[in-house]
Amino acid sequence: MEIKTLGVVGAGQMGSGIAQVAATYGLKVVMNDIAKEFVDKGFAAIENNLSRMVKKEKISSEDKSNISSRIKGSIDVSDMKEVDFVVEAAIENEELKLKLFAELDGICTPDVILSSNTSSISITKIAGATKRPQQVIGMHFMNPVPVMKLVEIIRGLATTDETNKVTHDLAIKLNKAPVEANDFPGFISNRILMPMINEATYTLFEGVGTAKAIDDVMTLGMNHPMGPLALADLIGLDTCLSIMEVLYKGLGDSKYRPCPLLKKYVDAGWLGRKTGKGFYDYSS
Ligand code: CAA
Repeated sequence: MEIKTLGVVGAGQMGSGIAQVAATYGLKVVMNDIAKEFVDKGFAAIENNLSRMVKKEKISSEDKSNISSRIKGSIDVSDMKEVDFVVEAAIENEELKLKLFAELDGICTPDVILSSNTSSISITKIAGATKRPQQVIGMHFMNPVPVMKLVEIIRGLATTDETNKVTHDLAIKLNKAPVEANDFPGFISNRILMPMINEATYTLFEGVGTAKAIDDVMTLGMNHPMGPLALADLIGLDTCLSIMEVLYKGLGDSKYRPCPLLKKYVDAGWLGRKTGKGFYDYSS
């Protein structure tokens, strides 16, 4: 089965990154979101990234316009009827994803695989909202999508070998490295990463160190490319909190209790880079 057109549902930082990468590697893309302003924002992020690559002479201006021309914007999810494979990258909300997958199941042709970029929600549960659970799979990209090599692939209980193979092959076509994880809360990536970010937040909350000191220890002492608090700001504190809640609820262990300071920041709308403030200030 050849995938020529990829449907991406959600034009946020993950969705637009996935659309950019797919178009870079020759696929046509339908990038969908619920409102024009979100789709426009997705295109602006792609434009920005591609312009930077032209400036650095990584691609030519002609490549840039070819890549952009392969991406079509959409604000009607029924446009997914024309795609060969779907990656859902909407917000990290279980109720919304279940509703969306039931809808996509009714729209997409029967052979289409429905994948989710969820960072922690059960693929088996998402698959259960459709009548094609054998063709539902997790395809978890990392942020920033154009830079990070990993795609975590998660099989639900009913996912077939064929679905798994097509998804692996697609990841390779997108120049990514697929790694398989089983369907447990947080999979591999966030089972390990998020408790570290949560613990860094507790370290700040309890006054063990300033945000800068905490991040400096992890960058200068452990060679991480960025500190856990700066990384949380990049991912989005709302996303970090919802992943911690999935771990806490799904694994039932108090060690996953979300830090009260993380909750407080999210309540205040301090969501990180996307709102201009998180653990750090990005307003200037
Ligand atoms: N989009 C596209 N390209 C980007 C980018 C973005 N948002 N941010 C940086 N880049 C590119 C730059 O253009 C640069 O490209 P070249 O090498 O071609 O010049 C390259 O990445 C390096 O960028 P910088 O020199 O500006 O900065 P850096 O060396 O500090 O790297 C970083 C930035 C890649 C973000 C690096 O700090 C890093 O790897 N951080 C950790 C990221 C990480 O852990 N991601 C996973 C998050 S978890 C997740 O996504 C899953 C989840 O479920 C929550």
